[in-house]
Amino acid sequence: MDNEDRTIDLINNLKDIPAMPNVIVKILKLMHNESAGATEMAAVIKCDQALCTKLLSIINSAYYGFGRQITSVNMAISLLGLKKTKNIIVTVAMSPLLSFQGAKSLWRHSILTAVGCEYICEKYNLGSADDAFVMGFLHDIGKVVLNLIDSERYQSFMSSKVHPDQNIQDERLKFDTDHSSTGSLLALRWQLPDVIKDVIRYHHYPLKAREFFAPALVNIVNIIVQDNFTEDWYDKELAKMINLHIDDVNALRNEIIEKGEALLKELA
Ligand SMILES: [Fe+2]
Ligand SMILES: [Fe+2]
Repeated sequence: MDNEDRTIDLINNLKDIPAMPNVIVKILKLMHNESAGATEMAAVIKCDQALCTKLLSIINSAYYGFGRQITSVNMAISLLGLKKTKNIIVTVAMSPLLSFQGAKSLWRHSILTAVGCEYICEKYNLGSADDAFVMGFLHDIGKVVLNLIDSERYQSFMSSKVHPDQNIQDERLKFDTDHSSTGSLLALRWQLPDVIKDVIRYHHYPLKAREFFAPALVNIVNIIVQDNFTEDWYDKELAKMINLHIDDVNALRNEIIEKGEALLKELA
């Protein structure tokens, strides 16, 4: 049995395969439909009352600092823009799945990677930044599945201090699969857009991807935001391949963490 068959087998044996929240499916589809706009997005959001309330509370928070009361979903979308509204919706709708018991660190890591991917794309003018936040946010979604397979055993991986690319090899030894394989199967079932699917599958081996920009970007940010990051973990060669030249990686790391922590506070 190869790695993919073993992973399919493991997932098929699970009783509860996580479902992608419906609102995310709709929003992501919408964003990949060029003729769809603010009206369509507002219609999707308004179907979910709890989501509307949370969106308005976040956009009225100090993090966005609009300085006036925003009282409607339409107003929120026109001030934030489609892309940022999508990011908030995906984050809020996904939070129950990513913050399962004992996985506070996965929730934090997902937000930091999301913020980092978006920030780097904007700051260094790297193209294709549209999905940057969501890509970073969902890259480790396969860990949710490994946690379902054997929660106790998986918790020890969550607190691992080794380099993430080493960590995934250790997963394979213990679980006969790894979170990029379980994640890419989930992504397939959830019918996520190709660019996000590729990030989930290849973020630990970006050069294996046909289009390696997005998996490489996530690989770099994933490593920068690790708690025990040291400068020698930063892969300059890989960064060069996506036209990313960071002068002071520690300073950039601090900026990303500060932004990420501020967003985490608003989402709590
Ligand atoms: Fe990962
Ligand atoms: Fe990660």
